[in-house]
Parts: sequence; structure tokens; C-alpha cells
Amino acid sequence: MKRWLSGAVLMALAASAVAETPLQWSDDEVKAIARHGPWPPPPPRDPSNRVAGSPDAVALGEHLFNEPRLSADGTMSCATCHVAGRDWGDGRAKAMGRAELDRRTPSLWNVGYAHWFGWDGAGDSLWSQSIRPILDPREMAGDAAHVARLLREDKALACGYERAFGDRPGGDDEKLLVDTAKALAAFQATLVSPRTPFDAFRDAVAAGDREAAARYPLAAQRGLKIFIDAKCSACHFGPRFTNGEFGDVGIPFFTRPGEVDAGRLDGLAKLASSTFNLLGKHNDDPSGATALRTRHVQRLHSNFGEFRVPSLRQAASGPHMHNGHLATLEDVVRHYSEVNPDRLHSDAIPLVRPLALTPQQSSDLVAFLRSLSADSPPRAAPSPLCP
Ligand code: HEC
Ligand code: HEC
Repeated sequence: MKRWLSGAVLMALAASAVAETPLQWSDDEVKAIARHGPWPPPPPRDPSNRVAGSPDAVALGEHLFNEPRLSADGTMSCATCHVAGRDWGDGRAKAMGRAELDRRTPSLWNVGYAHWFGWDGAGDSLWSQSIRPILDPREMAGDAAHVARLLREDKALACGYERAFGDRPGGDDEKLLVDTAKALAAFQATLVSPRTPFDAFRDAVAAGDREAAARYPLAAQRGLKIFIDAKCSACHFGPRFTNGEFGDVGIPFFTRPGEVDAGRLDGLAKLASSTFNLLGKHNDDPSGATALRTRHVQRLHSNFGEFRVPSLRQAASGPHMHNGHLATLEDVVRHYSEVNPDRLHSDAIPLVRPLALTPQQSSDLVAFLRSLSADSPPRAAPSPLCP
């Protein structure tokens, strides 16, 4: 070793040596990478919603999504909190309705592929989840009568309704509220996130194309190796990087002194008591298969403090977690690096343990997580209903 080389120069040499060595992937790693694609998946299906996938329902749903008159005082629409240019979230740690809520507005990208909805799984369909904000007094504070009147009296909406549902907006108010939510769901199911640098790499690895794979930055490749070794995909599974279920990764769940957000434990109680769940009369699926999950789910004490595993796609910007507790991806990686296992409520073998990452490993893992996001083209304003 030449003594006149300073520490900094040695480190720079070491870093450039790393940068020139392409990573090797074992067969098991190649399989693990391939399981996170291909992207995009086939369009989602929802037999519980008879207008899912219908272009007329999608068009009506997009109008309703941007319609402030759905709220009691005409000031708030779905798009107030779920902003297209902010990955269908609002960039706030906690959502702001008529007052600040306890939870963060989740992104709506890829929401059509989920099977539980909300951070606590209180919804079992995209349409029932879309009713909640309309009725919640802290959000749009509407009611079925208000929504039904709007559909019946507004010419464009009534016409859009007739095209989507094949009938003038009639029937009782509750049915029109549910149909409103089903059109909203049909629209939201079309929100599929763009392909990312990771997807190009994944396809190249799956096809054995080393040249194309080499275009993916090495830092992201090293971060992906850490993601695989640390078994992050036990929860952040498959093409969406979520298994759609719930977990506790040690995020504090106090909402204010002495009050907690019990997460899934409360969500399951709300699900069971909802007249809009899939066991109820508004489910359009004659086979009953869509209701099986809801029928068999059990409420366990270990559900306390569990929140739904978020997708990692388009999650680069933050804030993160159900309550916006962590501002940046760097903070998230620090959390997983230093997490105290005693804080976790899991009864089973803990899936989360402190990773004790070096600064280099931390920035590599962040580089990988960033590679799961891409710019999406700006959205054109919806064309008028029934011009
Ligand atoms: C005041 C802000 C606000 C408004 C307005 C709002 N949302 Fe949300 N949305 C949220 C928050 C916060 C959550 C998380 C709720 C929870 O976990 O309890 C959420 C959750 C959701 C989810 C579940 C997403 C998932 O990944 O599980 C859907 C779907 C949704 N909203 C659709 C809508 C629709 C449709 C409207 C309009 C009818 C709407 N939202 C209006 C803040 C808002
Ligand atoms: C036990 C299941 C589980 C494992 C294992 C796990 N996560 Fe998570 N992850 C979650 C849950 C649950 C949340 C949301 C927690 C909350 O909101 O309180 C989350 C949130 C995140 C978020 C924030 C997403 C957002 O924008 O809100 C990122 C990023 C993340 N995890 C990355 C990782 C990485 C990297 C690993 C591996 C080191 C990992 N996770 C391992 C369950 C898990």
C-alpha cells in the first residue's frame, strides 16, 4: 500500500472499482427479481361492481371524482386530496379535510388491484371505500339524499349515469349513492402507474439480456440485493411490491396523548358492521366468490397497530407511512436500519429486524427504492359528459 495515498483517495478508488464490476445474480435472485413484474399487469377485474371496466362508467366516475358538489357545502371533491400531479395523494403527512385527519392520504395508483382498502382495511371493495369520504363528517360530509339529488337534477350527470347504468338515475337514495361509488371505482381502477427503470431492468434480467440490464445504475442494483437479502418482499411482494395485507413495522401509533390508532383491529370491526361490505345486498357478484375473504377474515388481538403494507411504486416523494411519520425515503431506510424489535407487536417470527446498514448500503437501498418511480405524463382534463 502506497503510504502517500490519503484515505479519501483510497475510498474514491474503492468506489470506482465497485462501479466497474457488474453485479452477479444467482438463479434464486433472478427468480426473486422476476417475481416483481411484469409491469403493467393485466387490467383489474371486479365482479362485485357491475360497471367495472365499462368506458361509460369510467367517464362518469372521472367527472364525479372531480365534482365538489358531491360534498355538503360544495367545496371538496375527491381530487382535493387525491391530486393527479401528486401521484394521487396530497403530499401532506396527514390529510386535511374540514379538520386534520389522523392518517395520510394514500396514493390511488394501482388501487384497482387491492383487496383490502384504507390503511386499516375497513373497506373490502373499491366502491365501498369510495363511499366513506362522501359520508365522513370530517371530509365531504355528504349523505345519500344529497348525492341522489345531484345525480337526478344535474343534466350532464344524469345523462352520464344513464349511459353507464342503462337507466335514468332512479331508485332509492342509497342505491344511487352506491352507484356513484361504483362509477368512482370504475374510474380509479384505470389508474395504473407508469413503467419505471426497475421494470426495464427486471425484464432484461428475466430475458437474460446482460447489455440491457447493465443500463440500470449499479447503486440501484446493490440496493436491490439488500432488498432481496433483507426479505423486504415478504410483505412488499410481487409486481406491486405489496401483498395487500397488514403488518407492524414499529411506526408509533399514538394520534395524540393518550389516544392510539389501533389500525386493523378497528378496521375489521368497521368492516363487519358496514352495510356496504361484500356480504351485503350491494355486491353485484352472483357467485358470492368475492365475499369469501370478508366472510372468513378473523379479528385477532395481534391486529392491533397493524397497517396495510403500502405499494412501493411511485412512493419516492413522501411523506411515508400511514401517518406521514417519516418524511423521506432516507428516513424510511434509517428506520428499517435501526428499528427496535421490542416495539413490534407481531406474535409470529418477526419479519422486521434492525438491518444496521452502512451509509453506503443505506444510499444504495434508497437508490433502488427511487427506481420504482417514474414521471407520469400530465393528465388531460376529462372531455364533457354527453356533449
Ligand atoms: C380530506 C381528504 C380526502 C378526500 C376528500 C378523499 N379522500 Fe380518499 N383517502 C383519504 C385518506 C386520509 C385515506 C386513508 C383512509 C383510512 O385509512 O382510513 C383515503 C383512502 C382512500 C382510498 C383507499 C386507498 C387504498 O389504497 O386503500 C380510496 C380508494 C379513496 N380514498 C378514494 C377516495 C374517493 C373516491 C374520494 C371522493 C369520493 C376520496 N377518496 C376523497 C383522504 C381523502
Ligand atoms: C412485516 C412486513 C414488512 C416488511 C418485512 C417490510 N415492510 Fe416496509 N412496510 C410495511 C408496512 C406495514 C408499512 C406501512 C407502515 C405504516 O404505515 O405504519 C411499510 C412501509 C414501507 C415504506 C413506505 C411506503 C410509503 O410511501 O408509505 C417503504 C419505503 C418500505 N416499507 C420499505 C421496506 C423495505 C426497504 C423493507 C426491507 C428492509 C421493508 N419495507 C420490509 C411492511 C413491511
